[in-house]
Amino acid sequence: MNEEARREAIAVLKNRYSCRRFLDKPIPDDVLDDILEVGLNAATGGNLQPVSVVMVRDPERKRKIREYCGQGFIEQADTLLVYLIDFYRIKRWSQVQKAPFGKHLSFNDFIISLEDVMCMAQSMESAANLHGVGNVYIGTVNARYAQMKEVLDLPELTIPVLMLCLGYPDDKGLGRKKLARGVVVHQETYRRLSDDEVKKRIVADKYDNWMQSLEGEILEKYKDSFFQVTKAVHGEEYAREVVAAIDEQKGINRAQYRLGHHYNPVRLAALNEEVFRFYREQGFAFIPSDG
Ligand SMILES: Cc1cc2nc3c(=O)[nH]c(=O)nc-3n(C[C@H](O)[C@H](O)[C@H](O)COP(=O)(O)O)c2cc1C
Repeated sequence: MNEEARREAIAVLKNRYSCRRFLDKPIPDDVLDDILEVGLNAATGGNLQPVSVVMVRDPERKRKIREYCGQGFIEQADTLLVYLIDFYRIKRWSQVQKAPFGKHLSFNDFIISLEDVMCMAQSMESAANLHGVGNVYIGTVNARYAQMKEVLDLPELTIPVLMLCLGYPDDKGLGRKKLARGVVVHQETYRRLSDDEVKKRIVADKYDNWMQSLEGEILEKYKDSFFQVTKAVHGEEYAREVVAAIDEQKGINRAQYRLGHHYNPVRLAALNEEVFRFYREQGFAFIPSDG
C-alpha cells in the first residue's frame, strides 16, 4: 500500500461512525463479497472459527427483525448481518470425525467465541467503512433470542449475539464524543483517575456537563425511580445520596441517565433468567441449572 492510500484508509477508520439513515441504494454484490471475505479471514482462537453470519436482504425478514429489535432504520438498511456464536457446526465436524465435543461445557470457550465474533464483525465493519458503506451495530438481537431463532431458523448450539446493518449512508452520524486517549490508553500499568480527573475528562470533556433539568411531578417521579433502583443495587444509604444529588441539581446528569435510567440495572438484571433459559435451551451447559 502506498503512503497516500495508507493515510486515506487510516483517516476513514478514524472517522467511522454509526449510521442510522440509509439511502435506497443497493450494495453491489462485489462490494458485499469483499466485506464478507475480510470477515472470513479475521483472527479466531485456535483457527476454529466458532462464528456464523446470517446475511438478511429479504424485505419481509428485515421487517420482522425491525419489529423484534424495535429500531426503524433496521428496515431501511440494504443488508443485515447477524453474527452467531456457532458451536453447532463444530459439533457436526466432531461427529463426522469421531472426536469428543465439549465446547458447550466451558464458559471460557464461550468468552473466546464471543471475542471471535467481535474480531470478525469489527473487521467487516472496517471493510464496510473503507467501501463507503454506512453501518451500525445492533445489540438488541441478544434481548430477542427466541424471535431471532425463529426468524433465522437457528439450530441448537448457536446464539445470536450482534447484528450489523449495512447501507449507503444518508446521514453524517451523531458525532459522538469519545474519551481522550490518556483516559483510555494506559502506559505499562493501569492509571486510576482522581475525582477531579473524572469531573474534567469524563463529565466535562466527554459529556459537556450534560444535565437534563427536571421539575415538579417529573422530578419527583425520577427521584422515586432512582431511589428504588439505587436501593436495590446499593442499599438505602447510597440511594438517599443519589436522590439528594438529583434534588440539588433539579435534574439528572449523564451518569445517572445512562447508568440508572436508560440502562436500568434492575430491569437488565431481570432479563438474566430469560437469557440463561435460552442458553440452556440452545444446549449451552455451563450455566448452572438454577440460573
Ligand atoms: C455491541 C454494540 C451494540 C450496539 N447496539 C446498538 C443498538 O442496538 N442501536 C443503535 O442505534 N446503536 C447501537 N450501537 C452503536 C452505538 O450506539 C455507537 O457505537 C455509540 O453510540 C458510539 O457512536 P459512534 O459509533 O457513532 O462512534 C451498538 C454498538 C455496539 C458496539
